[in-house]
Amino acid sequence: MIDFATAPGGHRLAAGERDRALDIPGFGQVFTDHMVTMRWSEHSGWHDGRLEPYGPFTLPPSTSVFHYGQAVFEGMKAYRQAGGSLALFRPEANAERFNRSARRLAMPGLPPEVFVRAVELLVTQDRNWVPQGEGRSLYLRPFMIATQPGLGFTHPSSSYLFCVIASPATPYFGPAGPRALTVWLCEDYVRAAPGGTGEAKAAGNYAAAFAAGRQAVAHGCDQVVWLDAAERARVEEMGGMNLFFVYGGERPRLLTPELTGALLPGITRDSLLTLAGDLGMDAGEGRITAAQWREECEAARLTETFACGTAAVIAPVGTVRSASGGWQVGDGNPGPVMRRLRTELLDIQYGRVPDPHRWMHKVD
Ligand code: PLP
Ligand code: COI
Repeated sequence: MIDFATAPGGHRLAAGERDRALDIPGFGQVFTDHMVTMRWSEHSGWHDGRLEPYGPFTLPPSTSVFHYGQAVFEGMKAYRQAGGSLALFRPEANAERFNRSARRLAMPGLPPEVFVRAVELLVTQDRNWVPQGEGRSLYLRPFMIATQPGLGFTHPSSSYLFCVIASPATPYFGPAGPRALTVWLCEDYVRAAPGGTGEAKAAGNYAAAFAAGRQAVAHGCDQVVWLDAAERARVEEMGGMNLFFVYGGERPRLLTPELTGALLPGITRDSLLTLAGDLGMDAGEGRITAAQWREECEAARLTETFACGTAAVIAPVGTVRSASGGWQVGDGNPGPVMRRLRTELLDIQYGRVPDPHRWMHKVD
């Protein structure tokens, strides 16, 4: 096991200021006092693990990541549970996905136990930054960048930096519970193609999404829904979230787009497939085209659509817009299936109900 040298600094914010910062709703604007870093080189492998004060990196302008974008990241949360103890949600799943992303970008893998240890170390050190209250959590952002100086393109970088930073968070679309989103069905840009990097959490995927995001905002929408690259027909995912389609009724049926290699295998998605089954719903993976989505909504068979992800938790989709028209999902408001699943997931994450799948990983 790689050791982390701990050289914590003082607190960047006094306790009162920190408590005020914790009260401001938002996502990824305020960072805790510390970070964990670790370096990789061909010669030494992973080494130089440190817990240190949060602060800037100094890198030469020729550093590989600035030019060729070799960078991957993860997103996960620590929750303050009843009684004050802290727990991470399925960190081993993030560790595994991090390694799959790294492999796709020709970057070194990290032993899962080292990844989890690095995250635990930061949460323990900055435990006073884990907020209390419904929907509030400490968002953790492990990432890795290529650090070799030079513009050579014949080989991937020969050195890398791994880092974990943390930010107190409320759900991405607001702390006041789910509001129905209006989404933009993007019919010109594509996010990812088969054989590409869509199933990796590669920084470049997000860079390539901003132009469509602007288009969405220009049409009064909150988020972009991506279609498959080949036919622009099948719905794949939405912004930084996976999608679920609900056919309501006595025994609701849930469908989430299958993992084609072009969409991210979300950990929330995987967890909801399991929880829906636990609740007696019929949940599975499959294909749905945008045309079917519209027809099924218009025929009132498809009653809800919702997005899910670590940052977003679960967010309902109320209205769909596209260059060729739009439609409403259900009555345009958050639906009962989404609410049921959201309560179930949050109850497990905050330790209010038993954790039958042993998803929660207690910290210290
Ligand atoms: N899809 C994309 C593109 C994402 O960035 C994310 C967020 O991490 C997700 C889906 C949801 O994944 P998870 O539930 O693991 O957060
Ligand atoms: C997450 O949910 O963890 C994400 O990475 C989504 C995002 C904010 C890009």
